[in-house]
Amino acid sequence: MPLDGLLTALREAQHVCVLTGAGISAESGVPTFREAQSGLWEQYDPLDLATPEAFLRDPDLVWRWYRWRRELVAKAEPNPGHRALVSLAKLVPRFTLVTQNVDGLHQRAGSSDVIEFHGNLFADRCFVESCIIDEEQDSAGGVPVCPGCGGHLRPGVVWFGEAIPERALNDSFAAAADCDVFLSIGTSSLVYPAAGLAEIARNSGATVAEVNPDPTEHAAGFDHAFAAKAGTVLPEILKRMSET
Ligand code: APR
Repeated sequence: MPLDGLLTALREAQHVCVLTGAGISAESGVPTFREAQSGLWEQYDPLDLATPEAFLRDPDLVWRWYRWRRELVAKAEPNPGHRALVSLAKLVPRFTLVTQNVDGLHQRAGSSDVIEFHGNLFADRCFVESCIIDEEQDSAGGVPVCPGCGGHLRPGVVWFGEAIPERALNDSFAAAADCDVFLSIGTSSLVYPAAGLAEIARNSGATVAEVNPDPTEHAAGFDHAFAAKAGTVLPEILKRMSET
């Protein structure tokens, strides 16, 4: 695997920015958003469930789907790809991790200050006030309500058609524009604005690399593209960086 060029850039970098997508959690057994839904949920298209309209139409159905996803993800464990990023953060002066994933596996692996571009599956948010509700609400399996205003709670994820949280957007764009190396890992790079971060980094003079067994259309324009799994490439990068 021709890592030398990327390793040189990483060793010289003052700031490394990483964007991850569902692919980094694939080796933890978490199906990517687009993969076929299993069991009861096979009949549903995620796009018909992960929207404000779906929630207004049938909040109970949407909550049943998200509780199913929470159970699925809670059984998953961080994999060597997640853990390698925790180690990489300790080897560079400044490290920014942006994830499109809502599974919380980066945090469970030990990453801190994770920028969650699409929110977090395990957070509850008031549908009316938009505030995050920390304390667990007992909903007896139905639709939980906000202790503040009595409105419905919703999963704290960003649905299709909704804006990316402003802080996450601004911090991610600033990091992409400032970094010396940008790693795009396990994302199909189809969903904007996240998919635009690599271009911002490249236009700012950063070295840009992709890790994806199925190279994206952007790969040809990157400095490095590794058509391999994150759980293989990232530990190898860390091993080589730790050798010097
Ligand atoms: N290592 C690295 N990449 C992998 C691996 C792996 N082991 N396994 C799969 N991949 C790649 C796939 O080839 C694919 O290109 O991960 C990518 C996952 O793409 P998507 O399923 O489109 O997930 P993502 O890019 O994160 O989607 C972005 O769109 O689906 C919505 O809101 C959802 O956050 C998600 C956003």
